[in-house]
Amino acid sequence: MNGSPRPGVIERYREFLPVGEATPNLTIGEGDTPLIRAESLERRLGVAEVWLKLEGCNPTGSFKDRGLAVAAAKAIEEGAHSFICASTGNTAASAAAFGARSGTPTGVIIPARGVALGKVAQALIYGARVIPIQGSFDDGLTVVRALASRPGVALVNSVNPYRLDGQQTAAFEVVDTLGEAPDELFIPVGNAGNITAYWKGFRAYESAGRSRQLPVMRGFQASGAAPIVEGEPVGNPDTVASAIRIGNPANWERAVQARDESDGTIEAVSDELIVEAYQLLAAEEGIFVELASAASVAGLLHRSRGGEVIGDRVVCVLTGTGLKDPGAAVRHAPKPAEVEANTEAVAEALGWDDL
Ligand code: F0G
Repeated sequence: MNGSPRPGVIERYREFLPVGEATPNLTIGEGDTPLIRAESLERRLGVAEVWLKLEGCNPTGSFKDRGLAVAAAKAIEEGAHSFICASTGNTAASAAAFGARSGTPTGVIIPARGVALGKVAQALIYGARVIPIQGSFDDGLTVVRALASRPGVALVNSVNPYRLDGQQTAAFEVVDTLGEAPDELFIPVGNAGNITAYWKGFRAYESAGRSRQLPVMRGFQASGAAPIVEGEPVGNPDTVASAIRIGNPANWERAVQARDESDGTIEAVSDELIVEAYQLLAAEEGIFVELASAASVAGLLHRSRGGEVIGDRVVCVLTGTGLKDPGAAVRHAPKPAEVEANTEAVAEALGWDDL
């Protein structure tokens, strides 16, 4: 079926993507996510404009759907019979969805411990072959790179260039909405594909005359999993933000290039600050993200508190929804107390007894 009332990223950004007549127009309704003002953060930090790019509004709940749309379509065009990826969960869910949509058997390799249950649930119900391994994401990536040398197997991690082609559409949308690239872009960094893709997208749009400026790229790793910041791989990456628990990012050099070409920074933020940003986004902005996604806003808080001058118009990328990991929310929110089922008890528990 060609054409849809709500086109996906391939149809919307065809002229900027390596797609042609032979590329299937694969979509699950990804892209076109909201970009909204964060008025509470603006007041708190004294920044003129803070915008939040809500990538959790993609169909599988994370930005991964953009890159998987293009990677899956190109793999099918090139004759692949199977998809495979290593993942901390979101890529797995997205690959599984596109595998289901295109009827392509999909294998997802995830760390046996630490992946949010909602992400595993997605991969399972979409029908992927889910293989938990006794190791980290980095171990999984080594395994899938080897498996992908088999004929007809498409590796759909962000080492696949089509993933980055698809993910750059988020940068296009930011510019399309604001009419210009922002002054600074705050983004979490894990395997470092997304920061690479945004930079690629901003540059492509500038070359095409769609924007006059390029943003300063501000990437953030969790301090227990910050190989790029430390300048060497981390053997046992450790952070509450399981999606970015990565010790040896595949797109390391390209992320450094994006940082340097944009005159930007890649910094570490503590788990405490990530949790603070996670709570603040939910309680003050009404936006429930996953912990890894809160790293971008943690980065904004970190720089602001460190006395750094923040640009007039900044965008924080919120990479995924909080709903995949309700356990984290319950751990980091006040516990409700159970009361008797009568009006007085409930009014008292609400603090309304003297209203
Ligand atoms: N935020 C979320 C919610 C993620 O799932 C990821 C990566 C990132 C940020 C970091 O993006 O890797 O491009 O630097 N998740 C991958 C996965 C590793 O397997 O789902 P990155």
